[in-house]
Amino acid sequence: MNFEELRRQFEADLSQTHDLNQVKCVRDKWLSRENGIITGEMKRLRDLPKEERPFFGHAMNQLREFAETKIEEVRAYVVESETRRRKKRIDVTRPGFPYAVGKQHPIRRLQQEIEEVFVSLGFTVFDLPEVERDYYNFEALNMPRNHPARDAQDTFYFDENLLLRTHCSSVQVHSMETLTPPIRAVATGKAYRRDPFDATHSPMFHQVDILVVDEGITMGDLKGTLEVFLKRIFHPDIRMRLRPGFFPFVEPGAEVDISCIFCAGAGCRICKQSGWIEILGAGMVHPKVLRMSGIDDARYSGFAWGMGIDRVAILKYGVDDIRLFFENDLRFLTQF
Ligand code: PHE
Repeated sequence: MNFEELRRQFEADLSQTHDLNQVKCVRDKWLSRENGIITGEMKRLRDLPKEERPFFGHAMNQLREFAETKIEEVRAYVVESETRRRKKRIDVTRPGFPYAVGKQHPIRRLQQEIEEVFVSLGFTVFDLPEVERDYYNFEALNMPRNHPARDAQDTFYFDENLLLRTHCSSVQVHSMETLTPPIRAVATGKAYRRDPFDATHSPMFHQVDILVVDEGITMGDLKGTLEVFLKRIFHPDIRMRLRPGFFPFVEPGAEVDISCIFCAGAGCRICKQSGWIEILGAGMVHPKVLRMSGIDDARYSGFAWGMGIDRVAILKYGVDDIRLFFENDLRFLTQF
């Protein structure tokens, strides 16, 4: 019996253990009652001559005690390092892992806010095609082929009848075709023009257009509705003014300014010291436009206006470059 050899083997076994299960296996292998190596060696003491038994018995006892102590040491170590690892996993003092929650794009949110204002005023929301027929975008809005006003809206054409809508004013034609007066219709969405992509232009932008048609609608109704809307979207103290403006589908037509929201009309860099900011186009629906969509212009009249949503966003949020809205940079978008 070579004690040193046994001891080396035992230590070699124990040094391979990394978890409680492995520790238990080593214990079984060396110390189990039935077939542990050390237990087996001790049973063999009986076969030795009587005089040799005390010496070997003592040595074997020492080996067994050594094994038991070592196993207990390793077991304690394994337990401790496992708890330490587990504790680490639920270290409540660690900063959390931030995870991004998506939210609505500022333009989309403003678009919905605008729609909600009109819904609260009893308007019907139209969701209209971005790929539009020439008829709805131009022709039925009193802009026949070769009409010079088409030049002001440099258009993306697919072919001579199909184009990317240049404004949402097509809501006038669609709503008059599908509803009978009284009509209160609103459409919001993307519009496209062959404009450069710079701080103040984008070939794709957003608009809101409305149409009201009924008996006895006057410019006063236009002004009143507009004022309610602008106060809700900007500020209750906002003032507005109408200047004559030309759009083929309205008569009379107007450009609408609001008092500068940055200086309250006192004059600043943004309003170029004028105190006013141009915000939308409006007017009384042209009798020709009513007639073309099957509305009796002797009985009914109406008003319409159209406004850029991105422009409102730029003013409302004080953003100085429209491109920021379309670059999808989270550093910008998460500020809203
Ligand atoms: N469609 C016009 C534009 O895009 C705005 C407008 C709408 C003007 C309705 C008058 C009436 O500029």
